Amino acid sequence: MSFWKENNMEKLITFNDVILLPGWSSIEPKDPDISSRITLNHKLVLPFVSSPMDTVTEEEMAIELARLGGLGVIHRNCTKEEAVNMTRKVKRAESFIISEVFTIRPSESVKSATELMNQYNVHGLPVLNDNENLIGIVTWRDIRFADDNLKVEDVMTKDVITATEEVSLDDAKTLLHKHRIEKLPIVDSTTGKLKGLITIKDILLKGKYPHAVRDEEGRLLCAAAISPFDLERAKVLDKYADILVIDVAHFHNVNCFKGAKEILNNVSADLIVGNIGTYAAAVDVLSRLDGVAGLRVGIGSGSICSTSMVTRAGSPTLYATLQVAKATAELGNSIPICADGGIKNSGDIAVALAAGASACMMGNIFAGCRESPGRLIALEGKYYKQYYGMGSIAARKKRFSYDRYSQPSKDIAEGVEGFVPYRGTISDVINELAGGLKAALGYVGARDLNELKQKANFGILTPAGMQEMQPHDLITPK
Ligand code: XMP
Repeated sequence: MSFWKENNMEKLITFNDVILLPGWSSIEPKDPDISSRITLNHKLVLPFVSSPMDTVTEEEMAIELARLGGLGVIHRNCTKEEAVNMTRKVKRAESFIISEVFTIRPSESVKSATELMNQYNVHGLPVLNDNENLIGIVTWRDIRFADDNLKVEDVMTKDVITATEEVSLDDAKTLLHKHRIEKLPIVDSTTGKLKGLITIKDILLKGKYPHAVRDEEGRLLCAAAISPFDLERAKVLDKYADILVIDVAHFHNVNCFKGAKEILNNVSADLIVGNIGTYAAAVDVLSRLDGVAGLRVGIGSGSICSTSMVTRAGSPTLYATLQVAKATAELGNSIPICADGGIKNSGDIAVALAAGASACMMGNIFAGCRESPGRLIALEGKYYKQYYGMGSIAARKKRFSYDRYSQPSKDIAEGVEGFVPYRGTISDVINELAGGLKAALGYVGARDLNELKQKANFGILTPAGMQEMQPHDLITPK
């Protein structure tokens, strides 16, 4: 990759400046493998990650994205309890054996059982005695028409069909079918203690989402954003999240490094740090912080960013990716790079991955999906969803991610607020992005993302070229 210098100033190229040159190809657009890595220890089926922003990623987005093969990063503009709650919901959304099971005592009332089921959105509760042994199961069918004051032991099923931890998926299916039941408690064969729960819903979902990214226990993969200055939040989230993502605008900072060091010493989840934007920042991270598992790269390119307007500082995502990729290559380090900010379409994704990224983080694109938490509004006959920057006045009102920006005055906004067009379900959006990315690999002649990095040749467009290389000279009737 070459770099341009004029009067000792580098040209900070952005996505719109470049184009991928077509190469000799024997690859059909449907063929390429676009699986990738997000950290040293976690793979993705699709290299798409949703931004930790409160108009982009809460549990609904994270669950759906992980089911489709990508990854959601739960935002941090909330209390740590709320962040833990969202992360737990993702981890509990499906798995072969649920290990964190909600249970009830036999002496509790039907009313309590109903409340518990509603609170945790579950349809059945194993009943445990004071020795923690399984003595029954109560499901919503048992309590639907039961008197609220009855006790759980009056309505529960006592002859529970159970299995042990060694049960296979096929055997579990057979048991559930044979006994016409929806839940199969897993017990320790010697102590009789509850070890987990298999539900028919989880088994059915497993078939429905064959590309889902999962942890070793079959639960969906989940990441959560943290501050470098909040060790407590990092520690509690570490119990549930597979990946923790440091979420600050400018990570290449002495205090951020100090905080990250402390976090690295106290958590076992993979840690992604960022954002960084320069060769020097990448070298410093890799030489001074032991155990970092991923880099989040790009400063000021986000569609809702006003950082570079407010401060005239920043590093466009494509330039940042090239710089960080250069540093990691020179250090012989294969740490994955996540390109973050300013990604508008599958073409930008292809360019970022060709430049050295392993995954792309997107806020704007995913904010427009049905699964994002933002409000849906109708404007002049079209639907939009609310989207705002984490440094915007709207986000700052909630006050939890103040320390994302190192501002002397908390009244200075580094983000803006607005609306993005409603795009439909995440599944449709992902199909479009994956299709476009695979087609790009077809043009380059790359079988997978590693080949894309090796074979890609960039061209720099002139202003006339930029204009010509997009739809032009036509009118679109309203
Ligand atoms: P896109 O372009 O996908 O970018 O909307 C999302 C990324 O932008 C970053 N982000 C911000 N940057 N001020 C900033 O300077 C903000 O208020 C802000 N909020 C989010 C973040 O990296 C995100 O992933």
